[in-house]
Amino acid sequence: MAARPAPLVLPAGGSLRGRVTVPGDKSISHRSLLFGAIAEGTTHIEGLLPAEDPLSTAACLRAMGVAVSAISAGQPVTVEGVGLDGLREPADVLDCGNSGTTMRLMLGLLAGREGRHFVLNGDASLRSRPMGRVGDPLAQMGAVIHGRQGGNLAPLAVQGQPLHGSVIGTPVASAQVKSALLLAALTAEGPTTVIEPAPTRDHSERMLRAFGADLEVGGDLGRFITVRPGPALRGQTVVVPGDISSAAFWLVAAAITPGADLTVENVGLNPSRTGILDVLAAMGARLSVLHARDVAGEPVGDLRVQHGPLRAFRIKEAMIPRLVDEIPVLAVAACCAEGVSRISGAAELRVKETDRLAVMARQLTLMGARLEEHADGLSIEGPTPLHGAEVDSETDHRVAMSLAVASLVARGDTRLGRPEAAAVSYPGFWDDLARLRH
Ligand code: S3P
Repeated sequence: MAARPAPLVLPAGGSLRGRVTVPGDKSISHRSLLFGAIAEGTTHIEGLLPAEDPLSTAACLRAMGVAVSAISAGQPVTVEGVGLDGLREPADVLDCGNSGTTMRLMLGLLAGREGRHFVLNGDASLRSRPMGRVGDPLAQMGAVIHGRQGGNLAPLAVQGQPLHGSVIGTPVASAQVKSALLLAALTAEGPTTVIEPAPTRDHSERMLRAFGADLEVGGDLGRFITVRPGPALRGQTVVVPGDISSAAFWLVAAAITPGADLTVENVGLNPSRTGILDVLAAMGARLSVLHARDVAGEPVGDLRVQHGPLRAFRIKEAMIPRLVDEIPVLAVAACCAEGVSRISGAAELRVKETDRLAVMARQLTLMGARLEEHADGLSIEGPTPLHGAEVDSETDHRVAMSLAVASLVARGDTRLGRPEAAAVSYPGFWDDLARLRH
């Protein structure tokens, strides 16, 4: 067996100052590639996230005959669309890597490709994540998907079928599930209405409309989405804002580190994603939104955060979709806040890249955190002085970066195992951390 690489040493002490631009939004990056692929004409993408997850989406699309230009930091990307029905049957397994968004949205994209066969697979984490939440509603539209555990676990085989429109209540509040169904609906026979149990991020709705889809959003806070198949999608120019889920690490880092003053530039501020700003405001964080503007259909702004005293917070189920990926780093913030912070209704975190409730509880406890893990959340007592320890990302990108944030306020050095996980969503994180530390 190959020896595991040495852990990354995160030294204690110092503060954070300066400006940082986080890489492109992961959700918007996936969607721009996928929608560009099935549009007619060329899609130009500025600011696409050059990280492992979108690379998985691009590789799958290339394997089906879509020309996607090379993806590298700072370079615009072009996608030569093949039209709604132009995807070729791939000669090999489609590898979705670590990316749940890739696999779930691909299921929706491919289910209706009549006469074509597809096999989707991924890494060990992805092979353990539930896919029935997409496969079951797609079956209601006529999809045929086989896999382990009755079609719930990858590897998954999709036998393309003619799909029929349907009215579908999604089983969980998940933008991935919703987006898979919207993709399938584009080529189904007749309209499809998707009803969400709670509103989730609406990047697909915004972008599909811009690409020319016939899409209607109604109900309380946009919970009913109806797609009428027919119109061809047209290639667009997409400008991807910085990912608020990546900005979250700097927002919390600055809020908890004595003397810190950071400005995160060009962050996407879609209201379906800004739950972390509400929580930080409720904690009393010194946070301001600067230069709020609209860029290509998505709200964007710069965020300045300075260190200051923090109060404990409460996060309940209704808020989870607006900050689902930020809970690990908010758990770190809770260790530095006065009082007991409680997170509930967050059982979804157990089926992310890792079981994030268990992993954060385990790793933060090693650093001296006082917390309790519940079936659907965490209670965290603060302020608790953290100390350096031997910790591990357990292969989860958001855990790796959250523990790096915790190390900033720990007494003594922290040694982090498997830091390379950060490259799934933020390959430049360690360089940015080194640059911002003073
Ligand atoms: C995503 C939606 C969220 C989020 C994931 C990306 C998306 O997952 O956790 O990182 O791009 O739609 P769920 O929709 O399954 O909650």
